[in-house]
Amino acid sequence: MSLSGLIRALPKAELHLHIEGTLTPERMWSLAQRHGITLPYESVDAITDAYQFSDLQSFLDLYYQGADVLRDEQDFYLLMQDYLASCNAQNIVHAEIMFDPQTHTKRGVGFDVFMPGFLKALEEAKQMWGITSTLIMCFLRDLPESDAFDTLAQAEPWYEHITAVGLDSAEVGNPPEKFTDVFAQARARGFKCVAHAGEEGPPEYIVQALDVLHVNRIDHGVKCELAPALMARLRDKQIALTVCPQSNLKLCVIDDMAQHNILRLLDAGLLVTVNADDPSYFDGDLVANFMALERELGMTAAQLRQLVINGFTGSFLPEAVKARHI
Ligand code: HPA
Ligand code: ZN
Repeated sequence: MSLSGLIRALPKAELHLHIEGTLTPERMWSLAQRHGITLPYESVDAITDAYQFSDLQSFLDLYYQGADVLRDEQDFYLLMQDYLASCNAQNIVHAEIMFDPQTHTKRGVGFDVFMPGFLKALEEAKQMWGITSTLIMCFLRDLPESDAFDTLAQAEPWYEHITAVGLDSAEVGNPPEKFTDVFAQARARGFKCVAHAGEEGPPEYIVQALDVLHVNRIDHGVKCELAPALMARLRDKQIALTVCPQSNLKLCVIDDMAQHNILRLLDAGLLVTVNADDPSYFDGDLVANFMALERELGMTAAQLRQLVINGFTGSFLPEAVKARHI
């Protein structure tokens, strides 16, 4: 089988995926029409054309604006359903899906609106396609820690459906240590922890995420290569990095995919995984990310297989279930 065929055929896990980042221009358009919202775009194509970013913040501005079309339970159901249908098409059999409550609660859209929509679509996908999933509730790091505490409290009725808490949004200037106390409380309540670190920010943020937030894995983490001692630690402890190559290219973390360090990190023995991050904004789902590694970096079949295995190893699936996938 060709490598592209293998990329499609292998059952895969996705560990770094923002559900709000799966909002397709077509769905944004149809939801805007449904709610009588005037978008700052003339057509679906104009939305796609606007997706040119110079850094993380330039993306976040459009990403938060786009989420404004998500108003009622049905919108969140359709959003999740679209993503899960794409999982089925890509042979993603397990997805650990991030959502940003504060993006919605600050607009007056509460947990009782988005959670039922998400859960209905997740349950249907499990029944129809056997896709398993976990939810990761992310705190927006550009907001104060007190807002994250409020969010953790508001989520209480839904705790049984949420596996982990995470940290996303504007990284530089918002170090992990800003969220020390809320992560401690989340851990005490039984949540696993993840954090975006070392996407645009320095290796020191990765160290803080590990030492201060006690995260189970690091989202992105590509800047670890600047700190050899940290790289050795990530390798020795087999801490998963959820790397998003196409995202790094679109947000100018790298200038050219040929420069991406993912295969160097893999060959150095780190537990790196491949993920889409925000597929609708970064012009690439999980399969497209793997295809880019084949095309631009000459990924081999052995490297592909290891990356796919790492996706299950780094997941929050129970060990016995992981073993069935590996
Ligand atoms: N980084 C930080 N915040 C985000 C991202 C990202 O890549 N995607 C969605 N929110
Ligand atoms: Zn992300």
